[in-house]
Amino acid sequence: MRIVLVGPPGAGKGTQAHVLAKTLSIPHISTGDLFRANISQGTPLGLEAKGYMDAGRLVPDEVTIGMAKDRLAQPDAAHGFLLDGFPRNLVQAKALDEILVEAGIVLDGVLDLEVPEDEVVKRIAGRRLCRNDGAHVFHVVYNPSTTEGVCDECGGELYQRSDDTEEAVRTRLEVYHTETEPIIDYYVQQKLVTTISALGKVDEVTQRAVEALENRK
Ligand code: AP5
Ligand code: ZN
Repeated sequence: MRIVLVGPPGAGKGTQAHVLAKTLSIPHISTGDLFRANISQGTPLGLEAKGYMDAGRLVPDEVTIGMAKDRLAQPDAAHGFLLDGFPRNLVQAKALDEILVEAGIVLDGVLDLEVPEDEVVKRIAGRRLCRNDGAHVFHVVYNPSTTEGVCDECGGELYQRSDDTEEAVRTRLEVYHTETEPIIDYYVQQKLVTTISALGKVDEVTQRAVEALENRK
């Protein structure tokens, strides 16, 4: 399947994508994770992205679209993918359309995770990420690791993201409303969107997501 996941920062996109990608045997492609990997490796792309990310603003489209296009061209994405965090505005949505047309493929669906703002603020405040793999995501209260500060999946060190400050989160939410929400309407017009509530336990949300995607097959 070829799926796009949308939802506000902290909705649980990464958490759900990690499980869904395994269940569906497709790669989880997160532009946020790709940027963070570039930052930790000190690449020129990472250096360029870091300032925008720490401020909670979008990395410029030409950089992001180029990176996403390269990732989608890799062999593991040939038979399906779960996009998390891309596209994030109308320019990127139209660029994705072009990439898909060139490849002669179409999206199967867009899964929209809905969650109230006070909940995303709580989720972001307690989030801890694994240094080895950004897809290993924990929460100090809602989804704690067995040993504090250590990833259950790989033993990596857990850390708090530098863009999870109160100010950056406020900007990210604003950017979500002004730049990203319009892509939901864009995909509604293409009859691709299923909206599910992202409230409740992680596995309850996964259950809803799996059912929503089953109906898209
Ligand atoms: P990105 O990494 O994509 O961040 P985001 O969209 O702000 O989303 P988050 O990663 O904050 O949240 P999430 O929905 O994945 O939630 P998670 O699963 O972690 O982007 C970061 C930055 O990179 C952007 O600001 C931008 O600068 C740049 N960027 C990325 N893509 C770009 C693009 N396309 N164009 C331009 N710039 C781009 O969950 C959150 C927490 O809640 C965790 O602690 C988790 O354990 C917990 N949790 C999850 N589910 C539940 C649940 N059901 N109940 C309780 N807790 C839960
Ligand atoms: Zn890990």
